[in-house]
Amino acid sequence: NYEKIWLMAAILLIVGFISTVTYGATAVGVDMISDDGGTVNASALDEDPRFSEPRVEQVGENEYEAYVIAQQFIFRPDPITVPANSTVTFFVTSPDVIHGFEIVGTNANAMVVPGQVTELTVEFNEPGEYGLLCHEYCGAGHHTMEGSVVVQ
Ligand code: CUA
Repeated sequence: NYEKIWLMAAILLIVGFISTVTYGATAVGVDMISDDGGTVNASALDEDPRFSEPRVEQVGENEYEAYVIAQQFIFRPDPITVPANSTVTFFVTSPDVIHGFEIVGTNANAMVVPGQVTELTVEFNEPGEYGLLCHEYCGAGHHTMEGSVVVQ
């Protein structure tokens, strides 16, 4: 009967909600922004003062923006520290060559292109430490290029 169907639907909704919450971290979208219309030599680093000091900024109650530089062979800042139960938009650029930006255990996985800003938004619910990896070959030290995102 209908009562049972609605009860089942409600239970499914609740289960779905719980599994979303306990998933821990979810990437909500990956975008590429070009500040310069695609000119290869122009650098987002030079044109965008937000990258002069790589950092995390609070922009809303649970919203943060992280300005990150990926370069041979480090990420800055390292670690990237954000509070639990926050939504973090990462803006990532490179001063040298193409790098990767992968936050292990989340859907965050993007390319970082010199002169462009890669934007991606991740929700962090559970406290913990997430590995940050470069997954694009970027030179002799590529395999050592890693950082971390600390959710506290
Ligand atoms: Cu940076 Cu590989």
